[in-house]
Amino acid sequence: MFDKYNRTINYLRISVTDRCNIRCQYCIPDSGVELLPHDQILSFEEIHNIVKEAVELGINKVRITGGEPLIRRGVLDLVADLVKIKGIEDLSMTTNGMLLGEFAQPLAAAGLKRINVSLDTMNPTKYRTLTRTGDLQLVLSGIMAARKAGLHPIKINCVIANGDSESDAREVKEYCNSNQLEVRFIKKMNLGSGEFYRVEGATGGHCPLCNRIRLTANGKIKPCLFDDMEFDVRQLGVRAALIAAVENKPACGTANHNGRFYNIGG
Ligand code: 5AD
Ligand code: SF4
Repeated sequence: MFDKYNRTINYLRISVTDRCNIRCQYCIPDSGVELLPHDQILSFEEIHNIVKEAVELGINKVRITGGEPLIRRGVLDLVADLVKIKGIEDLSMTTNGMLLGEFAQPLAAAGLKRINVSLDTMNPTKYRTLTRTGDLQLVLSGIMAARKAGLHPIKINCVIANGDSESDAREVKEYCNSNQLEVRFIKKMNLGSGEFYRVEGATGGHCPLCNRIRLTANGKIKPCLFDDMEFDVRQLGVRAALIAAVENKPACGTANHNGRFYNIGG
């Protein structure tokens, strides 16, 4: 699909849950967040139908995100199901890694090829503070399990405050260099005020090259992370919602007042 600025739209990011097992400070506010009622969350059958329709329209790249995708019950079945859809050339997942020790091998067995893991610091105390409830050791052993399972490439997403010379970023980089992991630094964003940046080495945040649309856990297609616009597949029908999202994709994002990373996916 081409949008009206002649960008090819071939990438769909799917949030399979708005829930997360950790609470990163930059994602989840102190006051907590209001979660979607369970009955609004898309079933796997609905996701399957949306992806099939999207592939017919030209999507060939799909990423499973959250919240934390590995806490969605039955996520391995979803992976195995999506892997079988002809026309998807690249299926990947973004996870915080806390459950990878348990899931890496079954994910690979289900047919997942590669994975992105969020990791902002190599310091266990800082990791705990940043994520409020996270455990760095679990993430590191999860990453090793992913290597052992043959998931490749493993990309590490590292959120930075300023630049990649800060000490946490340097340590994450060193860890990645010595463990055959690709690292990408993502400058901390603020969706509400429209503060967003290019992700170096990827298309994220770079409007002229943006090739993506998003599916929220409750069935809204979003043309842009930095815009309030969304099209409900249950109200409009799957095909119409997908086409409307592509046709209305803004040239460049501005600000998003409703969404956050936990409910739209990073
Ligand atoms: N700024 C930049 N990246 C963010 N993520 C979550 N919140 C933010 C933010 N405010 C990232 C996570 C992860 C992905 C899911 O989104 O660190 O890499
Ligand atoms: Fe969870 Fe990701 Fe948000 Fe952290 S950034 S709280 S891992 S959804």
